[in-house]
Amino acid sequence: MTDAGSTRIFDSGAVAYDRYLVPAFFDDWAADVAHLIGMPRGTVLDVGCGTGVLAPHLATAGWQEIIGVDPSRGMLDRAAARRVPGARWVQGTANALPVPPGGAHGLASSFALMFMDHPVAAVRGMASAVRTDGPIVISTWGSLDDLPGMAAICAALEQVGGAGASGLLRRAFSMGDPQELQGVAHDAGLPGAQVERHVVTARFPGAAAIADAYATSLGLDDPARAGELTRALAPALAPFTHGGQVEFEMAGFILTGTGIGGA
Ligand SMILES: C[S@@+](CC[C@H](N)C(=O)[O-])C[C@H]1O[C@@H](n2cnc3c(N)ncnc32)[C@H](O)[C@@H]1O
Repeated sequence: MTDAGSTRIFDSGAVAYDRYLVPAFFDDWAADVAHLIGMPRGTVLDVGCGTGVLAPHLATAGWQEIIGVDPSRGMLDRAAARRVPGARWVQGTANALPVPPGGAHGLASSFALMFMDHPVAAVRGMASAVRTDGPIVISTWGSLDDLPGMAAICAALEQVGGAGASGLLRRAFSMGDPQELQGVAHDAGLPGAQVERHVVTARFPGAAAIADAYATSLGLDDPARAGELTRALAPALAPFTHGGQVEFEMAGFILTGTGIGGA
């Protein structure tokens, strides 16, 4: 399950997410996940697929069938618009995946676990959907203590929109303890579980693009508020701004393991 409030925000923020955040850093992370998941063998699940950033990388790698699952219709509509060969898009959650036990040859889930109400049950469900030798690659972001650029964005959002304005964003960084992630994998019975830190560089063409990205997603999208957010972001992001371009590290964790669903 996932709560209706976060699905509504992903629905309304899907266009901005795809326009600003995917090229800024989600696409680089997706390329690394597609590489890590290894040799293509048939059907791969992308759980919490969002706007489908991973699918082109999986298709290029040679996966024949890609099933993207997400509760947000707005995110799925953007994913479908990519027209990735072999991909189909299913509205749903990690708790009820659209394959029989062991029906998938591999599974990826990037930056969705922190929005799931029961992460242990979700990881168990994902592992059950994958055959015993199939690779599983689950990503979470680090904590805001490890992400000064993103912490500055959260602080600017709160300055303009109050504490509630950064709630969903803060939740995205709520599973940033590698030991906790290892514990979730252990409690879920994920075979061969290993957690590794991974880093990509976020690149934005300026503070205004960041304001557009997060103002729309988080409901601050009247033009005056977006302008206010740009003005709050500029000094907060000064340490990360060079020649107008904003760059900072996005650190996270990649949990790998294999399926338990059957041969
Ligand atoms: C930060 S986005 C990540 C999207 C994509 N994986 C990417 O890397 O760009 C998180 C996604 O998780 C989805 N999500 C939230 N709860 C979920 C659940 N219980 N099961 C599957 N997906 C969920 C959201 O709708 C959203 O599209």
